[in-house]
Amino acid sequence: MIKLEGITKKFPGLKTPAVDNLDLEVKEGDVCVLVGPSGCGKTTTMKMINRIHEPTSGHIYVNGKNVLKMNPIKLRLDIGYVIQEIGLFPHQTIEENVATVPNEKKWPREKTKQQVDEMLTLVGLDPKIYCRRYPSALSGGQRQRVGVARAMVTNPPIMLMDEPFGAVDPITRARLQNEFLRIQERVSKTIVFVTHDIDEAIKMGDAIAVMREGKIVQYATPNELLSSPANEFVANLVGRNRSIKRLHLIRIREILNGIARPGPATLDMPLDDIRKQIEKSDIRAVMIVDHDNKFKGIIGMNELKKNTGETAADYIHELNQLITEDATLNDALSVMLECGEGYVAVVSENDQYRGIITLGDLLNVVKEEA
Ligand SMILES: Nc1ncnc2c1ncn2[C@@H]1O[C@H](COP(=O)(O)OP(=O)(O)O)[C@@H](O)[C@H]1O
Ligand SMILES: [Mg+2]
Repeated sequence: MIKLEGITKKFPGLKTPAVDNLDLEVKEGDVCVLVGPSGCGKTTTMKMINRIHEPTSGHIYVNGKNVLKMNPIKLRLDIGYVIQEIGLFPHQTIEENVATVPNEKKWPREKTKQQVDEMLTLVGLDPKIYCRRYPSALSGGQRQRVGVARAMVTNPPIMLMDEPFGAVDPITRARLQNEFLRIQERVSKTIVFVTHDIDEAIKMGDAIAVMREGKIVQYATPNELLSSPANEFVANLVGRNRSIKRLHLIRIREILNGIARPGPATLDMPLDDIRKQIEKSDIRAVMIVDHDNKFKGIIGMNELKKNTGETAADYIHELNQLITEDATLNDALSVMLECGEGYVAVVSENDQYRGIITLGDLLNVVKEEA
């Protein structure tokens, strides 16, 4: 856990503090994103955590320990740091660059080599190819990967990442973000992540601190930030399309339990009962399952009106718009739009029926204030 208490940083010659009486708490295993316009104090805040800058006043704790009382050199070796503009040493090979902290920690050569290879592999760079190359022989995206590998190589529980994916094209950037999230899911580090890009903040953060002129304007989850921005500054920062952005964030499982709907019906249910269920339903149809709750298909009012059979089996037909609980509300919306229907059925991986999500449900979520 990282805790900043009343941190202020004044630079000589600067009229206002770069960081102004700032409080921040980062939970263990969380990615906390500092976001805000250029010059608002993001980098300065981060650099006080590993004491590259000394705060003018205030306290900083890492896992309960007072950072300002620790040996700064030792402190820095235990906090992974990806600096803005990557900052690889140009005259060192990739291997030497990644081995910086292990060498300072005087790790045995074997252990260092093994760990460097493992980290490069983890960030998608084949050590056999890249170890001996120099930074100038790498693309921007590859250099950023090396920067991340270097920061993580000794497996520090805490990482500071200052615009780690800043200097690359949008496609490479999205790929690096996705890879990073995948790695983080496995390693669960406590991370302070700086960006000036609100969409990156929303994508990467468990919690987001919006900064302005050295202060935190709002500290909230991405969903809260989008649903209830604290003021106009935050509202402008998150921009238009807030609702669409929220649909990307929320997973179907998070809303499914809150939705009450009749059904499903079973295959052997009398047609009259099925008809009654359909009449009660806002989608004018009912989902059909077998006795093990396995999803079988759908019966709609229109088919039932044709009166061409005696049992549910005579009316049931397949449903294409299916989705799993792990999908986002945006995925659900996409399926609805593609099928031209206002609902999707939610099933588990092994076809167990879970419920229905309708366009109306999505509207309700978007309308809700957090
Ligand atoms: N070493 C320094 N000396 C003097 N002023 C600085 C120094 N570092 C940063 N500043 C000033 O502090 C403010 C915050 O800078 P910074 O933390 O780098 O912002 P951000 O990372 O959000 O872009 C800016 O006004 C910047 O000019
Ligand atoms: Mg900065």
